[in-house]
Amino acid sequence: MRNPVLLLYFWSVYCCFPAGSLTTLRPQGSLRDEHHEPTKVPDPALAKPSVIFNIRTSKDPEHEGCNISLGNDQYLEDCGFNMTAKTFFVFHGWTMSGILETWLYKLVSALKTREKDANVVVVDWLPLAHRLYVDAVNHSQMVGQRVAELLNWLQEKEEFSLGNVHLIGYSLGAHVAGFVGNFVKGKVGRISGLDPAGPMFEGVDIDRRLSPDDADFVDVLHTYTATFGLSVGIQMPVGHIDVYPNNGDYQPGCGLNDVLGSIAYGTITEALECEHERAVHLFVDSLVNQDQPSFAFQCTDSNRFKKGLCLSCRKNRCNRIGYNAKKMRKKRNTKMYLKTRAGMPFRVYHYQMKVHIFSYKGTGDIQPTFYITLYGSNADSQNMPLEVVEKIKLNATNTFLVHTEEDLGDLLKIRFTWQDISHSWYNLWNEFRSYLSQPSSSSKELNIRRVRVKSGETQKKMTFCAPDTKKTSISPGQELWFHKCRDGWRVKNETRVPSSPFVELA
Ligand SMILES: *[C@@H]1O[C@H](CO)[C@@H](O)[C@H](O)[C@H]1NC(C)=O
Ligand SMILES: *[C@@H]1O[C@H](CO)[C@@H](O)[C@H](O)[C@H]1NC(C)=O
Ligand SMILES: *[C@@H]1O[C@H](CO)[C@@H](O)[C@H](O)[C@H]1NC(C)=O
Ligand SMILES: *[C@@H]1O[C@H](CO)[C@@H](O)[C@H](O)[C@H]1NC(C)=O
Ligand SMILES: *[C@@H]1O[C@H](CO)[C@@H](O)[C@H](O)[C@H]1NC(C)=O
Repeated sequence: MRNPVLLLYFWSVYCCFPAGSLTTLRPQGSLRDEHHEPTKVPDPALAKPSVIFNIRTSKDPEHEGCNISLGNDQYLEDCGFNMTAKTFFVFHGWTMSGILETWLYKLVSALKTREKDANVVVVDWLPLAHRLYVDAVNHSQMVGQRVAELLNWLQEKEEFSLGNVHLIGYSLGAHVAGFVGNFVKGKVGRISGLDPAGPMFEGVDIDRRLSPDDADFVDVLHTYTATFGLSVGIQMPVGHIDVYPNNGDYQPGCGLNDVLGSIAYGTITEALECEHERAVHLFVDSLVNQDQPSFAFQCTDSNRFKKGLCLSCRKNRCNRIGYNAKKMRKKRNTKMYLKTRAGMPFRVYHYQMKVHIFSYKGTGDIQPTFYITLYGSNADSQNMPLEVVEKIKLNATNTFLVHTEEDLGDLLKIRFTWQDISHSWYNLWNEFRSYLSQPSSSSKELNIRRVRVKSGETQKKMTFCAPDTKKTSISPGQELWFHKCRDGWRVKNETRVPSSPFVELA
């Protein structure tokens, strides 16, 4: 699926043929040629009003809403625009369908549920977005300018404050919000970028894309970034804080991993949309499930996060995601990570596991396959494979990230299982090879005395010990239990008070 050719095909061709716009708008020549030659026939969509400001007066998508326009005070009044309330502007992106999609109404409804007084304005630039991607990108600046003009006019009113303005843009719409920030007089309060578009924006100057300069606070969710090839969402950090849920690539429940072998476009389209749109649903989740906030953790790179090394909340290193994110103006391009569930509510519970693995018998390089089960006061986890990012180091402390979908409560016990995978054919072959070069599997034995755990959500540290200090060895097919033996990680009394995100961010 990460095949760049396929994605390019997607972006540049598949998108626009169904709309029929390719032939009517671009009758001759290549794309490149036409960018240098202005079209002779005047394009009706470029004549005003091609950008419509539609105030959503109801959560019902069927409801027409109420349109305002620059310079018309009567419309403002008729639409019930509240000058002193928060004002949200919602920006759609480049569109294949040419209509406002269901995610937009879900977002509008969530905003109206959370902020009852707020003005929710949908910026409808469909005629300019329902085109070849490159043209939609070209028009996005102009749309940003139109919105900036509207905001400049609103600022002439006494009670209106730009600080109360929150722009929320999805995909290409995120960059439109950035352009508003470029053109408006003063600074808007906040911009939330929901998986900002990547093609033609990756690596460009800050005035040609969404950037931290565009608002007082810019927070970004990246849900579909590809490491190789053309990325639908922008990979680079473009806000004050940039959150990469599930590493910003494979979102659980979207099935992009499963369709690798599939060439059915329907399936791939759905998977693509699912990943890209996940940013919107995470934001909606943050609006409506305020009592179940998802936390993201600052980390220099995704591998360190996957190893569980970044679950700290000290010095503002963790934050809620989406609408509940705490303003971090001092930060810039801060990468933050988290795991999520496949559906709403998306929150999970993160744990760091520090395990010193001893290899007393010195039988060379053993790579155990560990499974882990956590037992808590509320619930028990499933038996989960322990994800190894690089290799397990022997006679050394290894750190792992474990996450559960359920709130387990206080952790009580941990079970380690060394899965004996030698029954599968592949592993039988591996076993056979290692049998020739190394001692047999029967002599594989490792020792673990204790497991140190830190919860990302509560910031609590705990130590789990083997109940019998003489029984700490584990071999393939065996299990090892650890019981909670103390709070904290140190043998001596803890001097540092653990900081909880619930206290800090309340
Ligand atoms: C961008 O769009 C404008 C109209 O808004 C047009 O005049 C111009 O030629 C376009 N430029 C490119 C590079 O497509
Ligand atoms: C407001 O704009 C929408 C397009 O977003 C249009 O369908 C609708 O007819 C307009 N309503 C009024 C009252 O002009
Ligand atoms: C306008 O918004 C303000 C601030 O949220 C609120 O106090 C006030 O009641 C609102 N006015 C109306 C008429 O809804
Ligand atoms: C681990 O340390 C023990 C001695 O404590 C040594 O015998 C063994 O060879 C070491 N194992 C590895 C894999 O380095
Ligand atoms: C260590 O903690 C215990 C209670 O957990 C307390 O009674 C004791 O005074 C503490 N010792 C020091 C040196 O702080």
